[in-house]
Parts: sequence; C-alpha cells; structure tokens
Amino acid sequence: MTDVDRVLSISLGQAESHPSYGSLISFGERIAEATDGRYGARVYANNSLGDQQETVQLVSDGAIDMAVISGTQIENSSPRFLPMNVAGVFDDIDHQNRVMLDESIVGELFASLEPQKRLSVLGGYTQGGRHLYTTKGPIETPEDLAGMKIRVQESEIFLRLITNMGGVPTPMAYSEVYTGLQAGVLDGAENNEISYVTQRHYEVAKHFTMTNHLVGFDFMLANTDLLEGMDEADADALREAWAVTQSEFVEIWKQQTADATQEMLDRGVVITEPDPDVFLPIIEETGLSILEDPADIALYDAIRAVSEKEGA
Ligand code: GCU
Repeated sequence: MTDVDRVLSISLGQAESHPSYGSLISFGERIAEATDGRYGARVYANNSLGDQQETVQLVSDGAIDMAVISGTQIENSSPRFLPMNVAGVFDDIDHQNRVMLDESIVGELFASLEPQKRLSVLGGYTQGGRHLYTTKGPIETPEDLAGMKIRVQESEIFLRLITNMGGVPTPMAYSEVYTGLQAGVLDGAENNEISYVTQRHYEVAKHFTMTNHLVGFDFMLANTDLLEGMDEADADALREAWAVTQSEFVEIWKQQTADATQEMLDRGVVITEPDPDVFLPIIEETGLSILEDPADIALYDAIRAVSEKEGA
C-alpha cells in the first residue's frame, strides 16, 4: 500500500485466495489515486475483525469503516432487503448486476439504513449461484437429504429453504463450517463453487449438488459518518472507485467460477446435477411464500420486471 493519510479499514470474511480480496486491494489503490493519497484502504481477510453479524454492528458504530456483508446478514438488520435473498429472484449474475446498478430500484433501499444505523450501502459483489454440498451423497431428491444437518447462514429464508428441500438447517458462522463438516457436527453446507474451493470444503465434503437455489449478493457497507465527514469530492471519488471495482468484478467472478469448477474436478469432487423438476419447484415456492409485506412484493416484482425486459 502506498503512503496515505487515512487508511480505511475493510472487513472481509473470505480468504486471500477469494477474488473479492484482490478486488478490494484494487479498490484501495483506486481510492488512493483518486484522492491524491488523502485516503487508502487496508483489507482484513478471514473475518479477522469478527464474523459478519458482529462487523455490521462495528461498521454501524464507526469502529470499522467498511465491510463486505452477505445479503442474509443485512436482512437481519433490515427486513426491507429480504426480496434480494429470495430464491429465484435473480435469473443469473447478469440480471442481478443490472438490478444492482438500477437507481430506481435500489437507490432508496441502499440509503434506508443511513438515518438510524449509519450504514451506507455502496453496492456489492455477486456471490453467483449457490449450491448444496454434503459429506455423503449423491443428493438427487429431498429424501436423500433426510436427517442431514446442513449449515445455513443465520437467516429465516435459508432455514425455510433447507427444511423444504428435505434437510435439517443448522445456522452457523462461515468461519466455523470447515471444522463443523470435519467433526461431523454438519453433514453438509451450501455455497458457490469459489467459496467451496477457497475455504477448502472439498477436503471434508466431496459431494457437490448443483441446486442453484440462490444467486446471492454481498453488500459493501460503509459507515455513513465517514462518508459525510469526507470532503464531497473525496466521497464522490470513493463511490466512483467502488462502481468501477464492482463492475470489473462480474467478469472476474465468471472466470474464477470456471477455474474453481475445474479445480473441483481435478480434486475428485463428485458433481451431481439433479433433475430440475425435483428441487426447483420447491425452491421457487419457498421464495414466494416468504414475501408477505406489499413493499417486499413490489420490490420483488420490480426486480423480476428487469428480467422480463431483458428477455423481450
Ligand atoms: C459466501 C459469501 C459470504 C458469506 C458466505 C456464507 O461466501 O460471499 O459473504 O458469508 O457465503 O455462506 O456465510
């Protein structure tokens, strides 16, 4: 890192081998360049500043400047984010990216945590499609999952989803999953190919089932007082540096997902593609059943309308 006056702290749950780490380093360099060294950033990987639920609070308090936080953890701070975590809401990464850049859909939502929690959402990173993986397998039907303890993020929607898919949901922090699988406390977990590989979960859970139950999103949170305390041009430069970083990440993600899939094959992971008629209807139904508030349904519909426009 070059010499900068104020080093902003960024908390990340991923290992250095995950593409978000390198991307955040570039983000810091962009900030330093655009602010003539008045600001820069330091990335704290591997949840070294705390698990996600804690770091949301630390960013809110201003003890940490920024953090990458999974959608499900924001859902715990504000149910207004719920529609973003619903299975089936995004068709794929490109659809998700268009929505996340559409001010008319996300503008108000992203600013909604500012007044009380002092959290500003700058945007975020795709998590790609999430799939299931287990210590035993293959998994082709809900019956195959019966009695299996599957780690989920601490989120109501994931609890329902895994239950409906046939398993026993077990909420746990990301950093504890490897040991949980190894010790047999867990029979499985769910995540994207890149997290599965960079967390080395293939060492302890070799059966990977392509359920594609959610295209997830990691939100980039910044402390609102930090942004408001900056010179306006510097705050704009920081937001612009983020916008460039976010858009560049989509292609990086696609490439690294392909690389991770190859690595899985090389390491002898057993990849199963279940019949789409088995899990997909359950996934879609679970997604829709959780939305009750009219505002949530309106946001869900606005996101789906972007998909229909694309297809038109
Ligand atoms: C993904 C996501 C993380 C999240 C993790 C999890 O890796 O990018 O932000 O914490 O899934 O399952 O907890």
